[in-house]
Amino acid sequence: MSEFIGPKRGPWDGEPRPLYLAPMSGVSDLPYRLLVKECGADTTITEFTNSTALTREAATSWRRMETHESEVPFIPQIFGGDPGDMATAAEMLAPSADIIDLNFGCPAPKVTSICAGAALMGEPDRLVNMVETIVNRVDVPVTAKMRLGTGKAPNNSTEICERLEEVGAQRLCIHGRTLRQRYAGVADWSSIKEAVERVELPVVANGDITDAVSAAACLETTGASGLMIGRGAIGRPTVFADIKVGLGWIDQQELPWVRQHENWENLSETGQAFASRKWCWDRYIALSEATVGIHGKWMQRHAIAFTKGLPGAKKVRSLMHQEQSDRGKAEAISRFLGRPA
Ligand SMILES: Cc1cc2nc3c(=O)[nH]c(=O)nc-3n(C[C@H](O)[C@H](O)[C@H](O)COP(=O)(O)O)c2cc1C
Repeated sequence: MSEFIGPKRGPWDGEPRPLYLAPMSGVSDLPYRLLVKECGADTTITEFTNSTALTREAATSWRRMETHESEVPFIPQIFGGDPGDMATAAEMLAPSADIIDLNFGCPAPKVTSICAGAALMGEPDRLVNMVETIVNRVDVPVTAKMRLGTGKAPNNSTEICERLEEVGAQRLCIHGRTLRQRYAGVADWSSIKEAVERVELPVVANGDITDAVSAAACLETTGASGLMIGRGAIGRPTVFADIKVGLGWIDQQELPWVRQHENWENLSETGQAFASRKWCWDRYIALSEATVGIHGKWMQRHAIAFTKGLPGAKKVRSLMHQEQSDRGKAEAISRFLGRPA
């Protein structure tokens, strides 16, 4: 078993379990993945990338698979409807990857229309054969992220997990919604528990975990071996530290944005939000510069997310428009976060 997979855990009794940043297209770029690690995430996964495009050496797709020596483990996620292309892409990635993750959860029509992503939950034989082919072709662990089912037929994630265990997948993650639900409704953690109890592999629970209270509730309900956080981490990389502090797994005084302030406890909630986000923003820019450079589109998206909900956030777009260079835009956001209204 790879050191990066971790063991299956039993019922939760309060002890620390790994927290994962969910793969998110347009969010989990390399500097952001490195940042959330500094903010308490244990493991990150790239955004999904089209396996067929990777086999054709498409430059923009390979850009999404960029990593850096400081990213350990490196877990690229791929999707596709063609088992041959999926296996070839996995082989191309294997020399640099610690684990390869397969996407069976995406509900976007451009993905499901090629019988990829969550559409494969409706073709379980095809899904399982695809995973088996990939497991046999690469010498790194293969993991899979799925939904509960398509929503058109009875949920089949537990059955698929059992079959994936048999063909050699090493870790599974379940988002507690169906394809039909997309992001609507409430994630069904009790269905994740069913799979947790039926397989010997570690199962990671995903869906609607946004803070320490929901993290504890999900671990209690599911007994999952880890938790994956998606939307709760957009613009809020500190959500991982918040969960760990809230559950008593780490001490708040260890956090770098807290240590920077002599009187953190005396700051208002808004003051703390500005201070923690400024620390994160400056690190995001520093990590970008140290790895792939500042990528204008990525940075602007994060700038909107980082400042969302803060007083004065409406002027963030115009602050960026006033600057010509990406560095100038980054500095404008840093100044905004450094001077709370
Ligand atoms: C903007 C966005 C992009 C996403 N991109 C991916 C992706 O590339 N691969 C994937 O497996 N899931 C993707 N997802 C789904 C998330 O990984 C996660 O399963 C889902 O958001 C539910 O978790 P949450 O309730 O914590 O957000 C994406 C979700 C969002 C909101």
